[in-house]
Amino acid sequence: MQRPKKLEAPQGKLAVLLPGLGAVSTTFISGCLLARRGLAPPIGAITQTGTIRLGKRTDGRSPKIQDFAPLAQLSDMCFGGWDLFSDNAYEAATNAQVLESKHLDPIKDELSAIKPMSAVFYPEYVKRLTGTNVKVGKNKAEMVEQVREDVRTFIKNNGCSRAVAVWCGSTEIYLEPKPVHQSIAAFEKGLLESDPNISNSMIYAWALLKEGVPYANGAPNLSVDIPAMHELARETQTPTAGKDFKTGQTLMKTILAPGLKARMLGMKGWFSTNILGNRDGEVLDDPDNFKSKEVSKLGVLEEILQPGTYPELYGDLYHKVRINYYPPRGDAKEGWDNIDIFGWLGYPMQIKVDFLCRDSILAAPLVLDLALFMDLGHRAGFRGVQEWLSFYFKSPMTAPGLYPEHDLFIQSMKLKNTLRWMMGEELITHLGHEYYD
Ligand SMILES: NC(=O)c1ccc[n+]([C@@H]2O[C@H](COP(=O)([O-])OP(=O)(O)OC[C@H]3O[C@@H](n4cnc5c(N)ncnc54)[C@H](O)[C@@H]3O)[C@@H](O)[C@H]2O)c1
Repeated sequence: MQRPKKLEAPQGKLAVLLPGLGAVSTTFISGCLLARRGLAPPIGAITQTGTIRLGKRTDGRSPKIQDFAPLAQLSDMCFGGWDLFSDNAYEAATNAQVLESKHLDPIKDELSAIKPMSAVFYPEYVKRLTGTNVKVGKNKAEMVEQVREDVRTFIKNNGCSRAVAVWCGSTEIYLEPKPVHQSIAAFEKGLLESDPNISNSMIYAWALLKEGVPYANGAPNLSVDIPAMHELARETQTPTAGKDFKTGQTLMKTILAPGLKARMLGMKGWFSTNILGNRDGEVLDDPDNFKSKEVSKLGVLEEILQPGTYPELYGDLYHKVRINYYPPRGDAKEGWDNIDIFGWLGYPMQIKVDFLCRDSILAAPLVLDLALFMDLGHRAGFRGVQEWLSFYFKSPMTAPGLYPEHDLFIQSMKLKNTLRWMMGEELITHLGHEYYD
């Protein structure tokens, strides 16, 4: 791949389109509105606070990423979304009970003006929800056309020059890749026949890619991770990314596991359990929807620890993940981990983690970074799966035939090196020249 020509600062407004206007979306939008008025800090977003070292350590060049890469500005972002509930973003944020009124009140008018477009919602993929703000059409192909029309209308009415999309809708039931997912032709036939293997999120993704809108998937369902979408993304020169925002417990797992492995400590078991009480938790209480999440969460340790290469350390690992819906906690999830490790001569030890986190507070900055980096990648001519954004996902999508990288630190290095490469800077290998010069 050729390096992109010098990337200029973007012109015009960026539409950020969010299928699913629930807890994560409204927390993200609110944070951006507050941050651009200087009312609250956008903590946790690499694009807003992160720095990047350039050249040799002695050069002393470590600009902020936002001063180095020509990202869109918060003030140039314009927010829209779809939901089966007709609550505007202020009402949805109030229902989600993530942010306090001291944060919602100053932006009430701006949030209230964000009204969800009607959703593509075939209920069999998310059985726990029923809403009335839904599209009607004779088949799934017609639904794709309606979403495409929504995108064009939104861009036009809001005077935007381009758009990106981040799926923040509920987790759908577990689906496996089927023949209908294998090519553009098979998928388009499936849309006309309303094939049951084409879920709601796939309909959005198809419409968005057709419109050349980059699409990142924050949930674990397949959505854009099928060969037909990869083919369409290449054809329309559009970036894709996914799956499943890497937040609470899995974030901890991908911080701890690489460290334990780097020290060649063995592991017999990792038991993870969670309680959460938001709408996401309610949807995940359905075993079919939980299955999507479980598959996404379980892959992490296997890929990081490589039991095939280190059978004596990780060959007998027992890994279990549970999610329990517990309404009193709302969005304030609690995740417990018990890790059984062993060291020198095989002596056992235990690590306990109790993370009292806030789900949407951890997810919101990821939506912001993804929107800005997907837009940047698109302007740099990137297309298809954006593996350099694996940093943000529990179950990173890869180009066909490759294994995913889960180690947070390798992911971070890959992200920054991609930015350096994109901007014509030397890649950093962390090799110290003083050893051999
Ligand atoms: N830390 C996190 O919060 C986190 C981490 C990883 C993944 N996720 C995923 O992000 C997604 C959003 O999480 P949330 O906490 O905001 O959930 P939420 O339930 O508050 O919001 C999801 C919204 O999507 C809407 N929706 C469902 N199907 C839709 C469709 N077909 N079209 C339009 N809207 C639809 C629902 O009505 C709901 O308002 C979930 O899939 C969740 O699993 C969240």
